[in-house]
Amino acid sequence: MTEQRRDGLVGAVALVTGAGSGIGQASAIALAEAGARIVITELPDRLDNAEITAGMIVNNGGEAVVTPLDVTSLESINDCVGATTEAFDGRIDVLVNNAGINVPQMAFDVTENAWDRVLDVNLKGVFFMAQAVGKLMRDQSPPGGAIVNMASQMGLVGYSNRSAYCSSKAGVINLSRVLAFEWAEVGIRVNAVCPTFVETPLTRPMFEDAAFKADVYRRIPLGRLATPEDVAAAVVFLAGRGAGMITGHALTVDGGWTAV
Ligand SMILES: NC(=O)c1ccc[n+]([C@@H]2O[C@H](COP(=O)([O-])OP(=O)(O)OC[C@H]3O[C@@H](n4cnc5c(N)ncnc54)[C@H](O)[C@@H]3O)[C@@H](O)[C@H]2O)c1
Repeated sequence: MTEQRRDGLVGAVALVTGAGSGIGQASAIALAEAGARIVITELPDRLDNAEITAGMIVNNGGEAVVTPLDVTSLESINDCVGATTEAFDGRIDVLVNNAGINVPQMAFDVTENAWDRVLDVNLKGVFFMAQAVGKLMRDQSPPGGAIVNMASQMGLVGYSNRSAYCSSKAGVINLSRVLAFEWAEVGIRVNAVCPTFVETPLTRPMFEDAAFKADVYRRIPLGRLATPEDVAAAVVFLAGRGAGMITGHALTVDGGWTAV
């Protein structure tokens, strides 16, 4: 396959946060299949999961290293970016800001602690990872790169039990637009992906509720949940050369949920 066909990702360095699980794992694998060298990051106490993802990539002929990262800690972010540049030629071409959490609570019951945790990981973490990697992308030679932020359809619509989560994801979408605007001049594209429900460790417990499951399926015109691979395909597209004129966009992978 020519480099052109592989969308300019051959040899690119791609850092994926929360890549030991779910959508992050699928995105790391898909980027590696497109030829990128992958930095798998995970919370320090979940590095075993990161090693599993790295093993899957290496067994498939790809390159991957594992680095601990807690996106709520600026110190951890700086250590992670430093370790990445040591591992791979001092550069990062693609950042997938995937790490995220949800604490489902009805609005009357949301605690300050839960609100802060969700916003810290999902919005503040995305911003400070983008800032740290964005500075590197600005200063590297040649400059530039692609940042893909994992938002959600829940940043575009409301749904019960999710005031903090929906707020954080709406923030990620508009943050992506601001960064796209500011950083276009240094060659950094910034986009968001907005998936519908995907069955992952994050959502598996929710689908034990039959009424919830029925409501979700009813709202998705294509009649199924997204798979991690559906979302990873959007990540690879936005990271690659084929999306070279796309920045500040929020790409839904929602089977039509937000279209009706
Ligand atoms: N699963 C869905 O239905 C769905 C839908 C839309 C958007 N999303 C978003 O996709 C992303 C991935 O979700 P998933 O479903 O794969 O969930 P997941 O729980 O399987 O994966 C999330 C990953 O983030 C990591 N993480 C959590 N806190 C972190 C922190 N402070 N620092 C670094 N890493 C941390 C976790 O260890 C985990 O590996 C999230 O941003 C989520 O909000 C998920």
